Amino acid sequence: MNGPNGEIPGLALWTLVALMASAFPVRTPRGAVVSVSSAPTIVAAALGGPTAAALVALFGSTELREVRGEVPWYGSFWNHAACVLPALAAGLTFQLIAGTPYQIASLDSLVGVVLAGGVYFALNSALTAAAISLRDGRPMKGLLLADGKAFGLALVGLAPLAWLMSDAYLNVGPLSILIFALPLYTTRASYQSVVELRDMFTQTVRALASAIDARDPTTALHSEHVSSIATDIGKEMRCSEEQLEQLEWGGLLHDIGKIGVRDAVLLKPGRLDREERMLMNEHPVKGAEILKGVKKLAPELQIIRHHHEWYNGSGYPDRLIGQDIPYLARILHVADAFEAMTASRPYRPIPLTQAQAMDELHKYSGIQFDPVVVEAFGRTKWAGAAAPDDPEPAPAPPRKLIPVLGQVAALRTKGGLSHAKAADTI
Ligand SMILES: [Fe+2]
Repeated sequence: MNGPNGEIPGLALWTLVALMASAFPVRTPRGAVVSVSSAPTIVAAALGGPTAAALVALFGSTELREVRGEVPWYGSFWNHAACVLPALAAGLTFQLIAGTPYQIASLDSLVGVVLAGGVYFALNSALTAAAISLRDGRPMKGLLLADGKAFGLALVGLAPLAWLMSDAYLNVGPLSILIFALPLYTTRASYQSVVELRDMFTQTVRALASAIDARDPTTALHSEHVSSIATDIGKEMRCSEEQLEQLEWGGLLHDIGKIGVRDAVLLKPGRLDREERMLMNEHPVKGAEILKGVKKLAPELQIIRHHHEWYNGSGYPDRLIGQDIPYLARILHVADAFEAMTASRPYRPIPLTQAQAMDELHKYSGIQFDPVVVEAFGRTKWAGAAAPDDPEPAPAPPRKLIPVLGQVAALRTKGGLSHAKAADTI
C-alpha cells in the first residue's frame, strides 16, 4: 500500500478507521445498515489496489453486534461479502482509471477515486438490497430506489472525501486523518437524522391511530391490524416500497375522520338511524380534510377518502367505479373489511370466523371488492389462517348467525337499516 508507513501499518491504520466507522452504523427503515466505513475502504482501494481494499473491507466491516454474537453466521458472511466484493471491484476500477502508484493531487486519481466509489456504492447497495429482498420477499428494485433516495447522495459524497483523505495521508502523514473525523461524523449524523425523522413521524402517526382506536374498546388495534393486512396484500401485489409505506400509514389513519363522530353514534350498540348513518359515512371525507395540511401524507389522502368505495360504484363518498377507485384504496378496503368482520363490533358482538370472512370476501368480489385484490389477499398469511384445515380455528359462531353483509341486507329488507353499504367496516 502506498504511504509513509509501508504496507502493513497502512493496512492496519485504514482497517482501524473502518472498524471505528462500522462500530456506529445506522439501520435504515427497510433493514439495511449504512455506515461511513466505505470511505477508508475506498482510500485502501486507491492506495493499495484490490487486495488491500478487500482486506480493509473484510476486517473493517465487522460490527459490534457480530462480536456480541447477535448476527447468524450466514448474515455475517453476506454482510462481509457485500463489502469485500465491491471493494475488489473498486480497487480494479481505480487501477484501470488512474493506474499505479497513486499520483498525489492529480486529476486521474480524483476521477479514479470517484468512479471507484461509485462502483463500490452501486455493488454494495445491490448486494444488500438482494439480501433483504430474499429475506423479506420484497422487490429488490423498490428497496434500492427507496434507500438510494434517502442515503444515495450522502454516500456518493464520501468518494471525494476519500480522495482528500488519500492525498492528506500521503502528503501530510497518518495523523492528518484525524481532521477527517469531523466530516465523517457529520455524514453519519445526517444518516441518523433521516432515520430518526422517519421514526418520529411513524410514531406520531401510530399515536394518532391509537387515539382513534381507543375511543371504542371493541376497535382496539383495528387500525394497526388493517395497516398490517393492507401492507401484506400490497407485498403480494408487488407494490413499490413507497406504496407499501402509503398502505402502512393509510391503514393507520384511514378512520381518523371518526374523531369528529360523537360517542353516541360511534359507540351505539344498536343499528344507526338514517341521520346517524350519514354522520358516520362522512368520516372518510373528514379524515382526508384533517390531514390535507400534512404534506408528507399527501399520497395517503386518496386512500383515506376512498376506502369505502365499492367496486360496483355503490360505495361512498364519491361512488367511484372499478379502476377509477384509487388502487391502494381498493387494497385497504379489503383489509379493513376482513379485520372488521373478524373482530367484534357494538352492532355485532360475535365476530365471523376467519373462514367465514374469507367466504364473504369471495361472495362480494366484483361487487364490493376488487377481485384482483381479493385474490391477492387469498395468498397472504391472513387467508392462510382462514383455511379449513386451520389447526386453531376461531370460535364458531352460533348457528343462526347471518354473515355480516347478508345480515345488513336482511335488516335493510326489514326496514331496519337505511344504508346497507359496508356496514361491517364503518
Ligand atoms: Fe372507515
